[in-house]
Amino acid sequence: MIIVLNLNGLEINTRVFIAPMAGVTDYPYRQILREFGAGVLFTEMISSQGLIQGNRRTENLIEINHEKPGIIGVQIFGEDPSIMAEAAALVAEKHRPDLLDINMGCPARKVVSTGAGAALMQDPKQAGQITRAVARAVELPVTVKIRLGWDSSNLTAARVVDRTLEAGAAAVTVHGRTREQFYSGRADWQAIAKIASSTSALIIGNGDIFTAEDTRKMLETTGCQAVMLARGIQGNPWLVKTSRSLVDEGRKIPGPTVEKRISRALDHLQRAIDYYGQDRAVPLMRKHLSWYIKSLPHAARVRDRINKLTEPARVQDLLLNYQQALTENREQHFKQYLLEMKSQQ
Ligand SMILES: Cc1cc2nc3c(=O)[nH]c(=O)nc-3n(C[C@H](O)[C@H](O)[C@H](O)COP(=O)(O)O)c2cc1C
Repeated sequence: MIIVLNLNGLEINTRVFIAPMAGVTDYPYRQILREFGAGVLFTEMISSQGLIQGNRRTENLIEINHEKPGIIGVQIFGEDPSIMAEAAALVAEKHRPDLLDINMGCPARKVVSTGAGAALMQDPKQAGQITRAVARAVELPVTVKIRLGWDSSNLTAARVVDRTLEAGAAAVTVHGRTREQFYSGRADWQAIAKIASSTSALIIGNGDIFTAEDTRKMLETTGCQAVMLARGIQGNPWLVKTSRSLVDEGRKIPGPTVEKRISRALDHLQRAIDYYGQDRAVPLMRKHLSWYIKSLPHAARVRDRINKLTEPARVQDLLLNYQQALTENREQHFKQYLLEMKSQQ
């Protein structure tokens, strides 16, 4: 194994990290991402309040499979340094992740209204205090994930980076957007480059990586030592493999065939059924399934149909028939398929 990065003693063999994503990087999808070569993964963001109140649903989000190799970080959010420290200690002791990450980028109103997530971009001092409290509470490396600032007239990222590094953060991920932008507009890679060049600490670039070539370009443009994939992996775990192959090994490899995309969607659905049970799996999987089939012929109609189904077996049948229609690639077959879909409504 070639070690390319060292995070306070934690050896990392890749420059491609996978982002924490609420509702996306759950336990079943994390297992798939690992199988596609994800070296560094994060849980969804976890409420520090929920953890210390003993909320089972919150804690279930952390489940870690220690049997599979690779680095796993748990991301926590909150605004109170002592609660964050307590939550961090609890996670470290009970779940034994490799690192802890602090969310300072979530733009959701219900998070920022409490002073957590991206609200911390307005208060670099508080960002530093939270980082210090968490770093003191655990022996693990602590990382921080931020945005460029609150809005275009308050670009505080450089100050937050200084404060959090000084407080003991081992690395900072910078998403090249402000809170005001949410996920719109283009991520500003030049702004990330400026921050990366101002420190010798590990800065991880994030925003708008959708292809392996984007991964390579972001590393080159920003000068970051590592980058983090996010929406690019929705319905596309192959991005992990193609990106790692290109930037870690210098090898271009092809993406998936249509057949593989649908097979993987079916496999993901099955894992969700096994993990969440029949009733919860389909509603939770709808968005994933629509991502797997995105831009394939007649995808919008298939997605609309899936959104009306509740029984896993019917969704599986629909996907299998769709796969057949796609791989045989005959317009006649499609017409028949769409007709059958209609008659089932
Ligand atoms: C559905 C969704 C859920 C997300 N959840 C989290 C989260 O839990 N924690 C976090 O730090 N960022 C979260 N993010 C932000 C991403 O990690 C990433 O910073 C952002 O999407 C920018 O990267 P991209 O342009 O490549 O998608 C989320 C983004 C999306 C779209």
